[in-house]
Amino acid sequence: MDKKMSGISKPDTDISKLSGKSKHTEALAIAPETVQLVWNYSKMSVTEVPDHWMDVLKKHQTIGANPSLWLAWFADCTIIQSPVYKKMKARMLKGEKLLELGCGFGQNMRKLCVKGVAAEDLFGFYTDRILIEAGYDLFVDRSTQMTFFTGDIVAGTFEFERFHDKFNIVFASMFFHLFDWTEQVAIAKQVVNFLRKEPGSMIFGQQIGHIKPGLYQVGRESAGYAHNTATLQQMWDLVGSETKSTWHVQGIMDVNDNIAALTQDDNTRCLRFWIRRLWN
Ligand SMILES: C[S@@+](CC[C@H](N)C(=O)[O-])C[C@H]1O[C@@H](n2cnc3c(N)ncnc32)[C@H](O)[C@@H]1O
Repeated sequence: MDKKMSGISKPDTDISKLSGKSKHTEALAIAPETVQLVWNYSKMSVTEVPDHWMDVLKKHQTIGANPSLWLAWFADCTIIQSPVYKKMKARMLKGEKLLELGCGFGQNMRKLCVKGVAAEDLFGFYTDRILIEAGYDLFVDRSTQMTFFTGDIVAGTFEFERFHDKFNIVFASMFFHLFDWTEQVAIAKQVVNFLRKEPGSMIFGQQIGHIKPGLYQVGRESAGYAHNTATLQQMWDLVGSETKSTWHVQGIMDVNDNIAALTQDDNTRCLRFWIRRLWN
């Protein structure tokens, strides 16, 4: 067990037996890993987590009219599903810094915290403060040393320069597919600025992919470019040529029920990618 986990007691009940014990049955749509994370992190009783979660969503009513939707789509610890999660975690345990783009509630960053990564090495950014505030309440950690900041990465409305050359690793979950090719290139160039200018700097995460890459409508959001690994490499070749850097893209395309339901397209995939800077 990790050092920072050693003081945490075992769950007081089996998560699978929670059904029917919550006054908010919708809350049980939370993925079991996320319930476990809130329990591990906040040290509240595991049976309290669903009601606590619904209370937080009710407090932050502007999050959305349908809390279940937000639970289903914004609460997953997607970072642990990455093929390079363990390698990235090992690097962060040695003091490397991570920036998460579009961090939502910040559950992926808290997951790294319970695994022993230093909070001061974790940075998250989001369009506005709504989910960041809800995250503090959800995880009961307003005094955390993690850094959250807001802004529009396409328009460049926050102080980018403060964060230039600061990070070893960028993580982006369900983020890039919201944007078309041109916007993704602009965001990727910002990522290049955020990362240290040295071989081994990494960006990893997941996005909606497609077996026929192109521009697709995703839910109610505007159309975004769904890649496969080859088109993602093409995009990073372009980004590299415009930033005088070289990047190696690797990825896998998983069939994913959630993504198929969101896109109503059997040819969509979950593209899990990891991209390494080779040299300047
Ligand atoms: C689909 S959510 C993913 C949240 C979380 N990473 C996850 O995996 O559940 C993507 C989020 O990116 C944020 N976003 C969209 N456009 C943005 C922009 N131009 N700059 C910064 N964040 C943006 C939005 O707030 C949106 O909710």
